Amino acid sequence: MEFLELARNRYSERSFAAKPVEEEKLYKILEAGRIAPTACNNQPQRFYVLKSKAALSKAAKLTRTYNAPVVVLVCYVESDAWHNPRDGFCSGDMDASIAASSMMFEAEDLGVHSIWLRGFDSGAVQTAFELPVGTIPSLMLALGYPTANAAPFKLHGEREHMEEFVVEL
Ligand SMILES: Cc1cc2nc3c(=O)[nH]c(=O)nc-3n(C[C@H](O)[C@H](O)[C@H](O)COP(=O)(O)O)c2cc1C
Repeated sequence: MEFLELARNRYSERSFAAKPVEEEKLYKILEAGRIAPTACNNQPQRFYVLKSKAALSKAAKLTRTYNAPVVVLVCYVESDAWHNPRDGFCSGDMDASIAASSMMFEAEDLGVHSIWLRGFDSGAVQTAFELPVGTIPSLMLALGYPTANAAPFKLHGEREHMEEFVVEL
C-alpha cells in the first residue's frame, strides 16, 4: 500500500478485541522502533512491553487503554539523549516519539491497530512500573485488533486545510 494511503487509513483505535497480537508481528513493530532515527544516533528510546494481566491492569489504572492486549510504554533514558550545547534542549521525547510513530505505522502496515496515549501522570507511571531513575515515560502505544463494531472517532476526519499548516518564507 502506498504510504499516504496507509497514513490516511490509520486511526486511533478505541475498541480493541481480546485477540492477542502475534509475537512475530510484535517483534516487527518493536524493530521499527529500534531502527528509528535519533539525535546524534544516541538511541535513548526504551520499550516496556506490557502484556501480562498485572501489567495491563496497572496501565489501565493510569490512563484509558481501551482493553488493548498489548501496550508499549515508550520511554527515554535522559542521560543517553542528546542535549544541545547551544540551549540545553533534550531530544529524548522527540526520539521516543519518532520511534513510536515508526511503530504505529509498522503496526498499521501489519493490520494491527493502535492508539497513542499520553493521558497519564509521568510520576505515577514511574512508580507503577518501577522505572530506573532517569528513565522518563514519553507515551504508551496501545496495540491490537479492532472489535467488529470499531470505527474512527469523528476527530479522525477533522484536519485543517494545508494552508493552516504551511508557511512559505
Ligand atoms: C501526543 C498524543 C497524545 C494522545 N493521547 C491520547 C490519550 O491519552 N487518550 C486517547 O484516547 N487518545 C489520545 N490520543 C489520540 C488523539 O486523540 C487522536 O490521534 C486525534 O484525536 C486524531 O484522531 P485519529 O488518530 O483517529 O486520526 C493522543 C494522540 C497524540 C498524538
